[in-house]
Amino acid sequence: MKFDAPAGTNPIDQLKVVGRPTDRIDGPLKTTGTAPYAYEQRVVANPAYGYVVGSAIGKGRIAGIDLSEARAAPGVLAIVTAENAGKLTKGDFNTATLLGGPEIEHYHQAVAVVVAETFEQARAAAQLVRVDYARGKGNFDLVAVRDSAKPPKGDTKVGDFDAAFAAAPVQLDATYTTPDQSHAMMEPHASIAAWEGDKLTVWTSNQMVNWGRGDVAKTLGIPKENVRLVSPFVGGGFGGKLFVRADALLAALGAKAVGRPVKVALQRPLMANNTTHRPATIQHIRLGCGRDGKISAIAHEEWCGDLPGGGPENSVAQTHLLYAGPNRLIAQRLAVLDLPEANAMRAPGEAPGLMALEIAMDEMAEKLGLDPIEFRAINDTQVDPEKPERRFSQRQLIECMRTGAARFGWDKRNPKPGQVREGRWLVGLGMAAAFRNNINMKSAARVRLDGRGVVTVETDMTDIGTGSYTILGQTAAEMMGVPLDRVVVKLGDSSFPVSAGSGGQWGGNSASAGVYAACVKLREAVAQKLGFNSPDVAFVDGNVIAGGRPVPLAQAARDGEIVAEDVMEYGDLAKRYQQSTFGAHFVEAAVDGYTGEIRVRRMLAVCAAGRILNPKAARSQVIGAMTMGVGAALMEELAVDKRFGFFVNHDLAGYEVPVHADIPHQEVVFLDETDPTTSPMKAKGVGELGLCGVGAAIANAVYNATGVRVRDYPVTLDKFLDRLPAIA
Ligand code: MOS
Repeated sequence: MKFDAPAGTNPIDQLKVVGRPTDRIDGPLKTTGTAPYAYEQRVVANPAYGYVVGSAIGKGRIAGIDLSEARAAPGVLAIVTAENAGKLTKGDFNTATLLGGPEIEHYHQAVAVVVAETFEQARAAAQLVRVDYARGKGNFDLVAVRDSAKPPKGDTKVGDFDAAFAAAPVQLDATYTTPDQSHAMMEPHASIAAWEGDKLTVWTSNQMVNWGRGDVAKTLGIPKENVRLVSPFVGGGFGGKLFVRADALLAALGAKAVGRPVKVALQRPLMANNTTHRPATIQHIRLGCGRDGKISAIAHEEWCGDLPGGGPENSVAQTHLLYAGPNRLIAQRLAVLDLPEANAMRAPGEAPGLMALEIAMDEMAEKLGLDPIEFRAINDTQVDPEKPERRFSQRQLIECMRTGAARFGWDKRNPKPGQVREGRWLVGLGMAAAFRNNINMKSAARVRLDGRGVVTVETDMTDIGTGSYTILGQTAAEMMGVPLDRVVVKLGDSSFPVSAGSGGQWGGNSASAGVYAACVKLREAVAQKLGFNSPDVAFVDGNVIAGGRPVPLAQAARDGEIVAEDVMEYGDLAKRYQQSTFGAHFVEAAVDGYTGEIRVRRMLAVCAAGRILNPKAARSQVIGAMTMGVGAALMEELAVDKRFGFFVNHDLAGYEVPVHADIPHQEVVFLDETDPTTSPMKAKGVGELGLCGVGAAIANAVYNATGVRVRDYPVTLDKFLDRLPAIA
């Protein structure tokens, strides 16, 4: 089915099941520990265990490896290295270098997997692998290589930024930095691989089953049809599991070497340096305004780094679209850095970009003597500021801010910072805009109706803790006119139709639209089977009704299951509409006037993101995203060893993320919105929106509390303690 916007009225609009706050249908499995994650799948007999050896240098070569001691260790079955692995070919992503050697690209790049009878034997033997390294010279310091950075694509120039900025009566010129950040999902990257002849099955933890299937095949040089990937439950992805990683490849190579299934869970201390991370950014922002508060000139320039062939963190993304202003300059510069691979993490682009832009907006509002919300309202736009002929399909940015202001008590904010005291605590309020683009991805599904009236959905879509099982079940229930408990949802298997997968907050709308398309076909097949020719066939309460005659749905399948499959595609939709999601974040922070300790006290997110398919699951996602925002604002930072080129704090003892005690009262409000241009679901992404802007709202609240502006994340007390106002 090709989606033709705008969507007309359709069965989803009934909202009998869709749009209702619904418990997750996989919840009981999760809370009883019976949802099988990749490493726990009891699918193979007699597995062996792989343990990954990571490179001890950040850049250079392996001069030699001595495996003799490790091979002789108890229980060892095989050791796979680049020397004996056979040819590995680059897939669509950097898969060939998941096993390094002799060239070493980055610290903790896998150089061997030791396979043994037990996990403990593999781990013990891994300590006996002797690698002789020839350390090379690498670039590990973004500031040092900044001037060598190149534009990954052309700069965006509209009007004449330089002239307009020079002429602006009120100017802001400030530089902000965000640090490297590590994934820290609860389930590590883990896989079980099993070969049957030349056919490979990998049970793994991956967001994008079809990408992964393709890349496993390409890397190993085998046909894609010979690879099956299974990823039904994912204990957190956040962008770190968009791609095949070392666990899957090394499990496959290990299993081939020993002729038995092999299980590999990447050790937690390898996560920071072996897998992908969010790269650090330097962001230079200049705003020129008239005294009326109108932006006349806006520039956002970014510097970041990655391994050769890598890409930038797209932190300028939102600046293309968020605020009006006739003269614009947006530029990215990418340097070669020999640190571990950079890639998508928790709303790449807008999340770190808004951390800078939305402090800049706060600073400018103060210079203008305007309330931060009024300043943003003055510069709101209903069209793409670079291409005014493109309208936003929906844009309730300022409505989110006004709704939030009323609920949060924004009128109690003292615009003069450092004024509000509660004993030793300095108290402040801050806000920021939330923005993230909406992406539609082609997505297919199969639906089955059986003789009991049970509808089964099959698609390779993943549920990374987001609620996919539930909203796909809700979609099928709504379409087929049955309660949710008459729907079975099967996900995450490459033998099912190819879905959108989970990433970039595109999964919910796209994958449910794929189920919608399949259900349209199933409805047609059911109507035909029952001999209904009228176009007005209703599916209500387990019945199919035409011309006032109800027939039980199950009757259509009494002679055998009815199966339908379809794919939802979007053609040039993305060209015709600018689809984005909007929101506003509000934060109350308290800063200890003596110690500089920061406590976030209250948080509110107001989101406008199309139809909310399951308000309960969406709220959970946004709350999780807000929590990530606390981490980004106040805690998370990979410490770079600039001499040897690695992230030093590479475990959960040294890498700090917020815990329950750090998280205060959180409230989430969704504006009532449907967007008929996105899909028949009229929904958009919302999960990543919940993070975008949070960091700046916290930083702005800390500024309002203390009067000290910190432009380098994370906002830790060492950066402002000596500048705190005196407490009597
Ligand atoms: Mo997301 S960071 O695009 O999985």
